[in-house]
This record gives sequence, C-alpha cells and structure tokens, in this order.
Amino acid sequence: MSINIAIDGPAGAGKSTIAKRVAEKLSFIYVDTGAMYRAMALYMLRGRVDIKDEAAVTDMCSNVHVGITYEDGEQRVLLNEEDVSGLIRSEEVGNAASAVAVYSAVRAKLLELQQSLARTHNVVMDGRDIGSAVLPGAQVKIYLTASVHTRAERRYKELVKKGESPDIQVIEQDIIDRDYQDMHRKISPLCQAEDAVLIDSSRLSIDGVVDRILNIYKERCC
Ligand code: DC
Repeated sequence: MSINIAIDGPAGAGKSTIAKRVAEKLSFIYVDTGAMYRAMALYMLRGRVDIKDEAAVTDMCSNVHVGITYEDGEQRVLLNEEDVSGLIRSEEVGNAASAVAVYSAVRAKLLELQQSLARTHNVVMDGRDIGSAVLPGAQVKIYLTASVHTRAERRYKELVKKGESPDIQVIEQDIIDRDYQDMHRKISPLCQAEDAVLIDSSRLSIDGVVDRILNIYKERCC
C-alpha cells in the first residue's frame, strides 16, 4: 500500500516549499494540486470563457485533459499535452483557479487524477482539500497556516526579487479574498481535517516545519 502525506492550507503558507522538501527527504513524489487547478483556469482564460458562468466552464471541461509528469524530479503540468508549468504562476491565473475550483465538474475531473497518483505512488500532496476530501485515509495530514500579514510579506519579497514593485496592501487584500473564496465554497472547501495536525509557520523556519512533519511521519509510519 502506498504512503500518503496530505498538506493543506491557505495560499502563501509555504505548502509547496515544505511539501517539496519533505518529498525529497523521503524519496516520495510531490504532487502540487494547485497547479492542476491553475492549468484548468489557464484553459478557461485562453478560451475566453466567462469563469463566473458555471455552465460554460462545465462545457469546456469535456475537452480538457490535465496531466502531470516529472522532469529531473520536478513536477511539470500538462494541459492537453502542452507543458504549461511556466505559464500558470501569475496572480491572474491563481485567482481564476480559485474561481473555477468552486465548480463540481472541475473538481471531479482533477479528483480522479489526484487519487490515482496517490494509489500508485508514495506521495506528498498539497492543496486545500487533500486531507478532508481527496485522501481521507492519508497516514499523515498537516494543516499548514500562517498569519495574513506573514503570508503577504513573503509574497511581497518574492515579487520584489522578480523585479516588480508590488503594493503590500493590495497583496494582503488579495490573500484575504482568496482565503474567503476557498473557505466558503460549497464543495470541498479549505478546512482542517479532524485528524490533521495544525502547524502555524508564522514563527517557524522552513527546516523547523519540515522536521516536525518528518517526526510525525516517523511516529505514524515507521
Ligand atoms: O495553491 P495554489 O495557489 O496554486 O492554488 C490555486 C487555487 O486552486 C486555490 O486558490 C484554490 C484551488 N485549489 C483547490 O480548490 N483545491 C486544491 N486541492 C488546490 C487548489
């Protein structure tokens, strides 16, 4: 039987950095489910679909195939066979991903892919509903969060590094709006699964969080 580690939490809590490191340490594969929602959103944006129109988005779902592959240990996301990994990281695509993620047709499409990966591989999977809905039987479940201010500051620094001149207040408001949308949707909202361990990364280093997760894994699985 495969071993599954689920890491959920709001945008900007550090899930992907931490999940990647945990996966590396354990030689598991890292599955970034947010990237799958982002690929779906990119497809809708390219097709100029009104993402507020559930029927139109649902219609488009029948022609789209999202897949993932690994290159030098890095997850690549395929949208109808095209590698779109470099095109899905913008705020626009992230916000559109949160918007299309409310629809059952979009979630059903990706659920199948996520569950089949976890059945056939040892995975560290991150997202919003992994412990609560996608992999309810995961051996380790983590709910990773941080204050809005900490998350906004991290995002601000990332954007400055990229040469942009962001406004921290705009970033904070964006985070608040995205949290609200992800936590209040009807299907599989972002929430802490009953049996998930809560980790607040506001005052912890990346290594500190990784070590805590590895210790929980050792206690439960070794
Ligand atoms: O983690 P991220 O920022 O790449 O995710 C983008 C959006 O995708 C997020 O705001 C909500 C949606 N998402 C989801 O609904 N369920 C998941 N398991 C992962 C992401």
